[in-house]
Amino acid sequence: MNDRPLPQHIALILDGNGRWAQTRGLPRPKGHEAGARKVRLAVRACHERKIPVLTLYAFSAANWSRPEEEVDNLMRICREFAEEEHDELVARGVRVVVVGDMDEDVPAVTRRATERLVEDTANGTSMTLALALNYGGRRDMVSAMRAVAAQARAGLLLPEEIDERSLRRFLSTSSLPDADLVIRTGGEQRLSDFLPFEAAFAELYFTETLWPDFSEATIDEALAFYARRQRRFGRTGEQIGRATAQV
Ligand code: IPE
Ligand code: IPE
Ligand code: MG
Repeated sequence: MNDRPLPQHIALILDGNGRWAQTRGLPRPKGHEAGARKVRLAVRACHERKIPVLTLYAFSAANWSRPEEEVDNLMRICREFAEEEHDELVARGVRVVVVGDMDEDVPAVTRRATERLVEDTANGTSMTLALALNYGGRRDMVSAMRAVAAQARAGLLLPEEIDERSLRRFLSTSSLPDADLVIRTGGEQRLSDFLPFEAAFAELYFTETLWPDFSEATIDEALAFYARRQRRFGRTGEQIGRATAQV
C-alpha cells in the first residue's frame, strides 16, 4: 500500500470493551483491561505504518456518569498505561499529548503519571500520540470560545476578526492537524462528542469488531477503506481529478 494516501491523523474511538466482557460472563473492568492491551498494539501498528498522529478516545467527559467503580477502574487503567508504556514510547520517539481536561476530576495519581509521560516524551519526533482523557468536544469548544471572548474583551481581537483560526488556537487539539480518518470499533455509528470541530471533513470507518478483539487487520482494513475515498472538501469529483477516485 506504499503509494496509497495515508491519513496524517487517525482518531480512534475504542468502543466495545463492556460488551466483550459481558459476552464472556466477565465483569466490565476485565474488558477494559483486555482493551488496554490492544491500545499498545494499536500504537505500535500506527507507528510502524508511519501514521504521524494518532488520537485515542480513552475516557469521555460523559463517561463520568458511569458507576463509580467502573470509573475508578478506567482511571486506574489509564494510569497503568501511562506508567507501563513510558519507556517504550520514549524509546520509539513518540510525543504524547493530552487533549481533554487534566483537572481535579481526574485522580491525582492518574494525572501525575500522564503528565510525566507527556513531559518525558516532549521531544519525540517520530509520531504524536494524543490521549483524549476527560475529553468532551463541545466542552472543549466552549472553553475555546471563552478564551476568544476574553481576548475580545481585552481589546486584542475585534468580533469581526474572529475566524476558525482564532478558535482553533484555543482548542486542546491546537497542536494537531485535523483528523483525516475516524475509526470506531464496537458497531455504533456515532461520534459521541469526539472531535466535532477537528473531524469535520474526516472519513468515518465503523467496524463491528469489539475493541478487545482489535488486531492489525482492523487498522489495515480501515487504511484500505481510507485509500478508496475521494476527499472532496466541498469541490466536485472532476475538480479533484479522476486519478484519486481509483481504488
Ligand atoms: C469503551 O468501551 C471504553 C470506554 C468508554 C472507556 P465501553 O465500556 O463503552 O464498551 P461497551 O460500549 O459498553 O461495550
Ligand atoms: C465513547 O464511547 C467514549 C470512549 C470511547 C472513550 P461510549 O461507549 O462512552 O459512547 P456512547 O455512550 O455509546 O455514545
Ligand atoms: Mg461504549
